[in-house]
Amino acid sequence: MSEIFDSIDRTAVPAHIGIIMDGNGRWAQKRNLPRTGGHKEGVNTAREIIKAAAAIGVRYLTLYTFSTENWKRTAEEVSFLMGLLKAHLRSEFEFYKKERVRVLHLGDKTGLPADVIREIESVEKESRDFKGMNLVLAINYGARDEIQRAVHRMCGAEPGGEKGDIGRFFDIPSLPDADLIIRTGGEKRLSNFLLWHAAYAEFDFTDILWPDYTKEDFYASVADFQKRHRRFGGIDGEKK
Ligand code: IPE
Ligand code: IPE
Ligand code: MG
Repeated sequence: MSEIFDSIDRTAVPAHIGIIMDGNGRWAQKRNLPRTGGHKEGVNTAREIIKAAAAIGVRYLTLYTFSTENWKRTAEEVSFLMGLLKAHLRSEFEFYKKERVRVLHLGDKTGLPADVIREIESVEKESRDFKGMNLVLAINYGARDEIQRAVHRMCGAEPGGEKGDIGRFFDIPSLPDADLIIRTGGEKRLSNFLLWHAAYAEFDFTDILWPDYTKEDFYASVADFQKRHRRFGGIDGEKK
């Protein structure tokens, strides 16, 4: 394996990495391809990065796949993305099974096409007992939407219950805070990704377009994360 892979400290791997997989459209445009060509290539990158994350022992990998705002795109692009997702879930299941990757959906299932919901639910169910990495697919996900839905659920469950811990009502209550958030494609924004879970995340913004992103880029990002000092509001070296 590569030098960068070997340089990663296995005792300090980020437990939860979130990735904003951006730049597919621009990658395609640069090659005079339709934007959908970039999405197709982006799926190959996703497969590589899922393997790379599992190989170093990441516990949770959250991939921002389709946002609550992405419905603003043309009907053609949206339906292509939904089809790609469905095909990916089906074709990758054998890999998830082999690697014991558990798949979890993050976001609002209602609002997604019925065949996509079926595919998500079937892979969630069939991978339920896998004890390897948790692959969290954020599909029809917006952090504000998740927070809003959590608040509604919390008020329903605990009327007047201001003592409630909102985290218990999130889509995946066990999803830990994000340690590292990577965004490809050059933009330096969160675009409604993991607003709550990113409270103390470290960030890596790279100009590389998602279809060009490699395992080595991913490992370089993890290696850089391992050099940072996270203080969580405290002071280095001081005990509580
Ligand atoms: C990210 O790539 C994939 C999705 C949002 C589904 P984009 O499609 O946003 O690519 P750019 O940003 O237009 O290049
Ligand atoms: C964020 O990318 C959403 C996903 C990667 C799924 P966008 O391309 O939708 O974000 P903006 O519009 O540039 O903020
Ligand atoms: Mg984009």
